[in-house]
Amino acid sequence: MREELLSPDLDPVDIEVEVGLRPRRLDDFVGQPELKGHLRVMLEAARARGEAADHFLFAGPPGLGKTTLAHIVAAEMGAELHITSGPALERAGDLAAILTKLEPGDVLFIDEIHRLARAVEEILYPAMEDYELDIVLGKGPAARSIRLELPRFTLVGATTRTGLITGPLRDRFGLTARLDYYETSDLQSIVTRAAGILDVDLDSEGAGEIARRSRGTPRIGNRLLRQVRDFAQVERGGATVDGTVARDGLSFFAVDDLGLDRPSRAILSALCERFDGGPVGLKTLAICVSEPDDTVEDVYEPFLIQQGLLLRTPKGRVATPAAYTHLGLTTPARPGSLFEG
Ligand SMILES: Nc1ncnc2c1ncn2[C@@H]1O[C@H](COP(=O)(O)OP(=O)(O)OP(=O)(O)O)[C@@H](O)[C@H]1O
Ligand SMILES: [Mg+2]
Repeated sequence: MREELLSPDLDPVDIEVEVGLRPRRLDDFVGQPELKGHLRVMLEAARARGEAADHFLFAGPPGLGKTTLAHIVAAEMGAELHITSGPALERAGDLAAILTKLEPGDVLFIDEIHRLARAVEEILYPAMEDYELDIVLGKGPAARSIRLELPRFTLVGATTRTGLITGPLRDRFGLTARLDYYETSDLQSIVTRAAGILDVDLDSEGAGEIARRSRGTPRIGNRLLRQVRDFAQVERGGATVDGTVARDGLSFFAVDDLGLDRPSRAILSALCERFDGGPVGLKTLAICVSEPDDTVEDVYEPFLIQQGLLLRTPKGRVATPAAYTHLGLTTPARPGSLFEG
């Protein structure tokens, strides 16, 4: 299986560690009980009928387990997994080449499926629905189209943006599941499990401390665990990671009480201090913190919104009173234009 399609912002060490920490089976996948329940039933039913499972679309912010679930679907079905991504499939022929190589029951994972080119997406419709592939041979008046039968396969799509998935594509999935930020208790189980795999001496208070500051995201929990492990090793002579060591390690790595990292905090403080709480447009805000606007929108904002620190309004981004409090600033009498039409 190819692993190069993990998030582009991960360095190779991260990828190696992530692959090791990735739960392999549905039972090891922590949290998201409703989604797990649906998947379990659908996979078990397909398995019992000896058919390929239906198509699945997993949506949600980075690091919540979409790629992991694609691997799990294949593992639970005992099927071969093929991995590609929206941007990698430039022409219809790129997808056709992959589809025609599939064996019955195989799982095809398309990451960032919202970035599929229109022409590629269109050949996906009959492939998903009727297991047929229409290929056009030649150009102009001499062009003719042939239809190929495809084996029954399972498509798993992942997206950080459900809003960008077109209706016809979304409708062809048997299940569209949104992954939510994880509860602290789930994250505590996730980092405890990871500590076991990485051989880190972590007690439950230490795990709780890391979990609380993981921004609801397993990938971040695992990353903080590794940072705290390094801190314990170098600065605390290899002591057990308990509550105190975890707290000290996290503050050493500039992770604050809510788990906000520097870019998230930079977004909030730009909003509060430079733009008077907003509203300010996404592009302006992104330039101000030197991040691409889709990174601000997909990676940082969802958690700030979920925490009630930032609002998206038709006029732009607005800081809430909670943002001022979190930054230790005095809330202006009328923060931003929260109270304006
Ligand atoms: N439910 C879970 N239980 C345990 N570990 C998890 C869970 N979800 C994610 N992880 C851990 O978090 C890491 C990141 O998950 P994954 O790569 O599946 O995220 P993703 O949603 O595909 O992110 P991206 O949008 O960036 O591709 C995994 O390697 C795994 O270690
Ligand atoms: Mg992924």
